[in-house]
Amino acid sequence: MSQAETRYRAPARLFHWGMAVLILATIPVGVVMVQEGLPRPLQNSLFIFHKNVGVLLLLLVLARLAYRLWRPPAPLPPSVTGMQRTAAHLSHLALYTLLIVMPVAGYVRVKAGGFPIETLDALGVPSLVPRSDALAELAKTVHYLGSYAIAALIALHVCAAAYHGIAKRDGIFSRMWPPFGGTVD
Ligand code: HEM
Ligand code: HEM
Repeated sequence: MSQAETRYRAPARLFHWGMAVLILATIPVGVVMVQEGLPRPLQNSLFIFHKNVGVLLLLLVLARLAYRLWRPPAPLPPSVTGMQRTAAHLSHLALYTLLIVMPVAGYVRVKAGGFPIETLDALGVPSLVPRSDALAELAKTVHYLGSYAIAALIALHVCAAAYHGIAKRDGIFSRMWPPFGGTVD
């Protein structure tokens, strides 16, 4: 099978890299904004960025999954076998799961806690969850634990991509590269 036939389609690559940039900004912003002693205006700006980009990420992952159902990716080349194939599928499944769980937990934590999500509020979107401190605390714990899980998975994922792209040079990296253009669309 030629490289062009096994490459992700252009919209799938654009989703992947667009979301990767946003997530790689959202995570450090999340970590910094909860630190004590930050100047108030800076902390507010970081929270506004984190919450609103987080909601955008939820919309993007839903659109991405819908696109994936409509246009499934080409199968992995036969050079990827057994355990590696299973590990790739399971890790991608876990990433997609966390890409939904994290923003949903963030949303519930904020709305059940009675706080604003500026863009949704400006658009007049009503809260989808009741005001409840217990629910907000539960969602906060899920969001906190999930942040370690997603950071660890992304680190593993980037190591796997680098292994394929730099050490093995087996064409797996170019399935997802370049972010736009290339042939298959
Ligand atoms: C993929 C999306 C998201 C990722 C990867 C993410 C990641 C993180 C990380 C790493 C932290 C710092 C660790 C912590 O203290 O919990 C954090 C905190 C936080 N995030 Fe997110 N987040 C996402 C989406 C959202 C969304 C959509 C909201 C709300 C609309 C949100 C609201 C918060 C809040 C309020 C905190 C401060 C901790 C707390 O009081 O609960 N996050 N997030
Ligand atoms: C930062 C957050 C990232 C997330 C959440 C993420 C998530 C994902 C997901 C879910 C897939 C599976 C796509 C599908 O089959 O539908 C994927 C594939 C891929 N990602 Fe990422 N990714 C991220 C960053 C990166 C980075 C930084 C690299 C490279 C250094 C990379 C390289 C790849 C490659 C090469 C594939 C294709 C693997 C294959 O051929 O099956 N990703 N990514």
